[in-house]
Amino acid sequence: MASTPNFPKSTQEVAWTACAPGRVNIIGEHVDYNDGWVLPMAIEQCVTISANPLGDAIAVFQSSLSDEVVRLDLSKPGLQATPAWGNYVQGVVWEFMKETGASMPGFAATITSDVPQGGGLSSSAALEVATATLLEKITGHTLEPLEKARLCQRVEHEYAGVPCGLMDQAASTLCRAGDLLLLDCVTDEYRHVAFADDDVVVLIANTGVSHSLADGEYARRRSQCEEALAILGKPSYREVTALDLQNAAHSLGDVLIKRARHVVGENVRTRMTVDALEKGDWDRVGTCLYASHDSLARDYEVSCPELDCLVAAARELGVEGGVIGARMTGGGFGGCTITLLRKGHLERIREHLATRYQERFGVVPTFYTARPSQGTR
Ligand code: GLA
Repeated sequence: MASTPNFPKSTQEVAWTACAPGRVNIIGEHVDYNDGWVLPMAIEQCVTISANPLGDAIAVFQSSLSDEVVRLDLSKPGLQATPAWGNYVQGVVWEFMKETGASMPGFAATITSDVPQGGGLSSSAALEVATATLLEKITGHTLEPLEKARLCQRVEHEYAGVPCGLMDQAASTLCRAGDLLLLDCVTDEYRHVAFADDDVVVLIANTGVSHSLADGEYARRRSQCEEALAILGKPSYREVTALDLQNAAHSLGDVLIKRARHVVGENVRTRMTVDALEKGDWDRVGTCLYASHDSLARDYEVSCPELDCLVAAARELGVEGGVIGARMTGGGFGGCTITLLRKGHLERIREHLATRYQERFGVVPTFYTARPSQGTR
């Protein structure tokens, strides 16, 4: 007879616990799959998983966000029927076993999360990375941080059908409190960039408009960028200049030139932002953020009226109103904007964004303030 899962309860001692945060991207949007650089930071909100051993070769997950339980027969690795969110956890379990060769003892796990779902803050990457970190604890097999991020990315591709880049999983794995993560998506080299001014706050505004990257637009952008690169006859976007785009304008056509222009421009803006941050030049950071948003809206066409409204509202206040810059963050088609601002102006800015949004959409977005937080632990 199967033993009753000994699900951890908050008050009770647990054998293993792991957590992994969501993220916002400061800049470098839709370029992690286009030979770019990205600059995300982990947020405080995270997915936490606690687990206790279970006698049988079974892994059971319950989640505070769902009534359904995921039950995996560990003696039969491979896709098993679960609710949709179970694909993320089972993907990590099977890929982890494959990659490490670890034998997996049975366990009962409880998942809790304060990362908003479908809000563009990488709740799924947080779930994947938290699961992988938990499995490290359970089995004693440790993965290199980037290996872990790649494993989780593979799960997103193969078990969730989203052909994402590495940014979200890398951010959830590698970020450090107080720093942004600069990841080179060609070499996978990374370094931490200090977010050095205590006076600067990141305000996240969640539109509550839910996007699904699996809907096809994300994959479409990805293949359009590949197509453009092939027409340009270059092996990588690293080798494409603005002049190359001009010269190939005719063969690229209206749509592909816009997609490629975003990629080339965003790669320049991301490096420029890092340089400006390192020099404490917040004005230039702001200019890059707005330019990134405009490019995502006009050329990449992944923004939406809700995101544009919040960025326009931030722009209205401008530097005099304490705003450094603003842009949509993440995959787009809804989700969140970030506004970088001076701490003393926080309340006024939040109010202004809320008012403008309510005038237009009849509801108020959800706000969070964020400082760069620690990756999985
Ligand atoms: C989603 C994907 C990331 C990245 C962003 C856009 O969050 O998961 O890999 O492509 O969109 O920058």
